[in-house]
Amino acid sequence: MTKPINGFSKLNKTEKIEWLAENYLFDNDMAVSTLKQYWNDDEKLQKLHDEFIENTVSNFYLPLGIAPNFLINNKYYVLPMAIEESSVVAAASKAAKFWSERGGFKATVINQKKIGQVHFLFKGDFSKLKKLFENIEPKLREAVKPITRNMEKRGGGILDISLIDKTQDLENYYQLFVKFDTRDSMGANFINSCLEKFAEVLQEEASNAQDFDEEEKKLLVIMSILSNYVPECLVRAEVSCSIEELSEDKNMTGEEFAEKFIQAVKIAEIEPYRAVTHNKGVMNGIDAVVLATGNDFRAVEAGVHAYASRKGSYSSLTHAAVENGIFKFWMEVPLALGTVGGLTSLHPLVKLALDILQKPSASELMEITAVAGLAQNFAALRSLTTTGIQQGHMKMHLMNILNQNEASEDEKKEMVEYFKHHTITHSSVIEQLKKTRS
Ligand code: MEV
Repeated sequence: MTKPINGFSKLNKTEKIEWLAENYLFDNDMAVSTLKQYWNDDEKLQKLHDEFIENTVSNFYLPLGIAPNFLINNKYYVLPMAIEESSVVAAASKAAKFWSERGGFKATVINQKKIGQVHFLFKGDFSKLKKLFENIEPKLREAVKPITRNMEKRGGGILDISLIDKTQDLENYYQLFVKFDTRDSMGANFINSCLEKFAEVLQEEASNAQDFDEEEKKLLVIMSILSNYVPECLVRAEVSCSIEELSEDKNMTGEEFAEKFIQAVKIAEIEPYRAVTHNKGVMNGIDAVVLATGNDFRAVEAGVHAYASRKGSYSSLTHAAVENGIFKFWMEVPLALGTVGGLTSLHPLVKLALDILQKPSASELMEITAVAGLAQNFAALRSLTTTGIQQGHMKMHLMNILNQNEASEDEKKEMVEYFKHHTITHSSVIEQLKKTRS
């Protein structure tokens, strides 16, 4: 049995790998050289990546793909997408092309407020706490001035601070509920720094409050942290076209297409099992852009799914309807994104991705990202309600199997031709490849 280790973080990178190999990889030279194979030759660049996190032993590549032809608010974009799943970039590109020929995507930021909370316990008279809060609100704002000054110069800062009584849900539980405008930054560090300062001032003021009794003076801050639930950081993306323009298939009218498509959306609106998969397809587009632009996809995922359940039951993020012969497909989604700070100025590929997008503001990036999600969902539903999803997926899967088995270019051509008329499964591809080779 392997032993635990003390001081792993103190070892240098090579020592960490040696320890790993010795204890968990059976001293396998191949494993060690695989880890090292992914190091970058440029030492400075590698050091940069090493220092993003702790205990780095290698880099973990994801493909960076490009989906062109996104016409958004009358401007053409190409979307950088970091994702490992085959078909996603192809589907995005197809949907982009389709909608670029039908007026393109429209996107609008509805609001851009972020939320943070100081969670605390107070045993005592709420009216006294309320009075204290009203008295110290200017002091709270003043105390964070050194943190907010620069943000205020950029037009952002603290929008609102309120005291919330949550004692109906949890004994003695209150919050300072704070709304922020963090401009082009995602703002997590800014928000958390402000909140921790608020907590410090609140605790100090409570302990010195003349009209508080001893119990009330012991106001206890539990934690101060931003919320990744951002229903007021909302963006809308939409497309529309006349129903006649909708179908590209000679065997299906636009009306037939719309009917099935809208029904598929309605199913996701009322059926959580389907809604989760439906929204996963939306997130294929959103996450890929979020990752490529150096944003926090876990935060986005958590916030989006919470929003999808805001009415008490998990539901579709997208909606569709036909009105007066016009097909409409839209989505409102919370996206707290940044284009300055964090990885955006550190990671060379992130910088490049933002350059590809023509250096967008945070609100423009929200629009682009929401469009990527809507496009992805459109592509998925179009396949699901017409040919079925496997046709496209399996074509990409075929390539993956062929690559795994080191098929030559000629073999690939032959196999692609053959599987146009045969069902793709892992074993059928291997079998056919063997036949071709013999
Ligand atoms: C696969 O990554 C995403 C889909 O399952 C989405 C959907 O079912 O709508 C195709």
